Amino acid sequence: MKRRQFVKAGAALAAAASLPRFSFAQVKGGDRIKVGLIGCGGRGTGALKNMIEADQNVQVVALADLFPEKLDWAANDVRGFCQERYSAQADDIIKPDTVKKFGGWDCVDQLLAEDVDVVIEATPPPFRTPHYEKIVKAGKHAFLEKPACIDVTQAKKMLELADEAKKKGLCVVCGTQRRYHPYYQELIKRIQDGELGEILSQQCYWNMGGYIGQWVNFPDLDPESIEYQIRAWWCFIWASGDHIVEQHVHNIDVCMWALGDNRFPVEVRGMGGRSTDLPWPRFGDRFSHFAIDYDMGNGLRMSSYCQQDPGVNDEVGERMVGTKGMCYSTLGGKGALWISDLKGKRLWESQDIPVSELVLEHKYLLDAIRNGENVNTLKTLVNSTLVAIAGRMSTFTGKKFKYDWVLARSKEDLMPKNLDFAAKNPTHVPVPGKEQLV
Ligand SMILES: NC(=O)c1ccc[n+]([C@@H]2O[C@H](COP(=O)([O-])OP(=O)(O)OC[C@H]3O[C@@H](n4cnc5c(N)ncnc54)[C@H](O)[C@@H]3O)[C@@H](O)[C@H]2O)c1
Repeated sequence: MKRRQFVKAGAALAAAASLPRFSFAQVKGGDRIKVGLIGCGGRGTGALKNMIEADQNVQVVALADLFPEKLDWAANDVRGFCQERYSAQADDIIKPDTVKKFGGWDCVDQLLAEDVDVVIEATPPPFRTPHYEKIVKAGKHAFLEKPACIDVTQAKKMLELADEAKKKGLCVVCGTQRRYHPYYQELIKRIQDGELGEILSQQCYWNMGGYIGQWVNFPDLDPESIEYQIRAWWCFIWASGDHIVEQHVHNIDVCMWALGDNRFPVEVRGMGGRSTDLPWPRFGDRFSHFAIDYDMGNGLRMSSYCQQDPGVNDEVGERMVGTKGMCYSTLGGKGALWISDLKGKRLWESQDIPVSELVLEHKYLLDAIRNGENVNTLKTLVNSTLVAIAGRMSTFTGKKFKYDWVLARSKEDLMPKNLDFAAKNPTHVPVPGKEQLV
C-alpha cells in the first residue's frame, strides 16, 4: 500500500507527553491500524466487521465488555468472519488467543491502556458519554455508535468533548449511517441545491411491528436492579433514552441534515404513550409510541412519529415537501429514495449501491486517519440526539416549550448514581400532564 501522509495529531502530540499511561493514536498512512472494541454485542461486533470490510489493514488488539462472557463469543465471531472473507489475512487481523479481552467495570480503562489507535464504542447509550470522555483523554480516534447520549447533562458534556477531540486532532465518526449512503448524499445535495424549492414540511418515521426487548427474560434478576436494567437496556428510559432517542434519531438526523445542520426547532410539543400489553416493570418504563410536532420556524414543521408495538405496520423513512417538489427516503437500493414533482411525477430515484453504508462510514474514518485529516461528526449527532431528547421530554410531561430552554435551563440527568449490579433503581412509567419538566 502507498505510504501516505503521517498523521499529525497536532497539539495532541504535545499533550500526549502528559498521558503516560496511554499511547497516543499516531498512524502512518500505510500502517496497520490497531483497533479496540468497547461493547461486544450485536452492533459492536457488526461494526468491527464493517470496519474490517472497509480496510483489511487493521489489527484487532483488544475487546472490552462489562459482561466477560461476551468476549470469547465476539472474538470467535469476528475471527470466523475474517476466515470466511479474508482467509489469507485473518491471522493479521485477529487471533482470538492473543487478542486482549477485558471484562467488568474497568474494562474500558484497561482497553485504553493498550496500544490501540482507534476505538469502536458500541455499548448501550448511557455509557457513550463517560466512555468517550476516557477515549478523548487517552488520545484515541473513535467510531461512536448512535445515539450520542441519553439526556441533557450528557449532551452538554458531549458538545465539550467534540471540541476537545478537535483540539487534540482526534477523528470521531458516528453511526448515523445514512450520511454515508451515496444516494442519501445525492438526495440531500439535490434538496440543498433547491430541487424541492423551499421546504414547507418534513415527516419522519420509525414505526415497527415489534418491540425491541420483547424477548427479555431474566427470571433470576430483579427488574429494579441495575444489572437487569443494563441487560434489558432497550426497555428502560435511562438505559436507552427510549426508542425515540435510541432508534428514531436516525430519521430526525436526516431531517436536520437536509436543513443544513444549522436550523433547530423553535418550539416542541410531543405526545405519546405505552401499550397496556407491556407488563411493568419486566418490560421497563419506556413508551411504545411518540408523535412530535417540531416548529422549525418560518412556517416549517417537522413531524416525527415512532412506534414499537407487535403487529403494527412498519415504516422507517423520511418525507419532505417543498414549493416545487417532494421526496421520500428510506435505506435501500433502487427506488428507495426519490424526488417527484408536486403531481407525483418521478424526477429522480436511487439505484442499488455496491457497498453498504455501514462499511462506508468506517472507510470514511480510516481514510481520514491515514490521510491525517481531522474529521469530527460528533456535534451533528449530539444535535440530532438532543432534538429527539426534547421530543421525549415534551411527550413525557405533555408540556410545550421553546427548544432554546433545553440547553439553557434543563437540568435533566437520567444516569443512576449507583451502578452496582445489585443496587435498586425503581422506575415508573411517565404520565403526561403529571411528569415534571426538569
Ligand atoms: N447504527 C445502527 O444502525 C445501530 C444498530 C443497532 C444498534 N446500534 C446502537 O449500538 C449500541 C449497542 O447496541 P447493540 O444492539 O449492539 O446492543 P447489545 O446489547 O447487543 O450490545 C451492547 C454490548 O455492550 C455491553 N455493555 C453494556 N454496558 C457496558 C459498559 N458499561 N461497558 C462495556 N460494555 C458494556 C453489553 O454487555 C453488550 O455486549 C446502541 O447504542 C444502539 O443504539 C446502532
